[in-house]
Amino acid sequence: MTLIYPNIFSILFIMSKFLININGEHFDESSAKISVFDRGFLFGDSVYESTRTFNRHPFRLSLHIERLFASALKIQLNPTLSKEEIATQVLKTIEQSPHQDIFMRIILTRGNNSDLGLDPELSSANNLIIITKEISPNPEWWLSHGLSMIFYQKQNSPSGSLPKSGNYQENIMAHKAALSQKAYDAIMVNGQGFATEGTTSNIWIIKNGVVYTPPLIDGVLEGLTRKTIFEMPRVYPIQEKSLTRQDILEADECFITSTTRNLVPVTKVESTPIGNGKPGVNTLELLKSYLQFVGQKAVF
Ligand code: PDD
Repeated sequence: MTLIYPNIFSILFIMSKFLININGEHFDESSAKISVFDRGFLFGDSVYESTRTFNRHPFRLSLHIERLFASALKIQLNPTLSKEEIATQVLKTIEQSPHQDIFMRIILTRGNNSDLGLDPELSSANNLIIITKEISPNPEWWLSHGLSMIFYQKQNSPSGSLPKSGNYQENIMAHKAALSQKAYDAIMVNGQGFATEGTTSNIWIIKNGVVYTPPLIDGVLEGLTRKTIFEMPRVYPIQEKSLTRQDILEADECFITSTTRNLVPVTKVESTPIGNGKPGVNTLELLKSYLQFVGQKAVF
């Protein structure tokens, strides 16, 4: 991976919060527009990735693009752009950004429809939209106090590793339910009664020194933070295991993971404190090892 420095054009974007690449052209938030006939807008017919940079280096970009293509395959969206073309656009946008550490949403929609019907054949070439903004550090209270979560019973619970599609309706409902109960987020539960994931994160517990996370088959997105934790040198034994609500409530520690948030302790679920109700020491130790590992990864 070569080092990327800001170029003169990035100065143009210093005043705006967002820098947005639409099909290869850069815009700020006031001028970025897509068609009302875009199928992502009409039907949620799109796939996406959220990733970030560390010091202008994209985090695991090829894996994010692999997952974008795997999601596309799951919804039979045939990309009209190659992986290399998408990577080139991502790198161009990083180059144009005035910021070192940015959040990036990479969206690939099936394209603009020529009519209102569902038939995918009505669509043109894909639209590639990359939305970026400076990433904010995690609030300090996340580590000092931990998050509180609720459980949310999914209505629709497909099994197997999920596509990261543009349709997050059920996750939105779960998140809304959590906010209305003054919780940070919801742990979604599938039709078999197993916890799957947060609405935009993977879920983990630690019990008797072993780290557990639900298997993909329970209806889980294969998070790249999750994948990275499995690849890291083992601090503790790690296993995939279906988790019931009870397993979570009786855990010694609990935490969530996502690319933008790393590992964040969960200290309360519904009204039950997890463990001693404080961010778990093993969770914080894992976070430290994760950041060290990612620090090394981010440079190549
Ligand atoms: N969300 N599960 C779901 C449903 C997600 O949406 C995400 C990511 C994850 C964690 O994946 P990763 O470790 O690759 O970030 C798990 C991102 C943050 C988002 O939607 O913006």
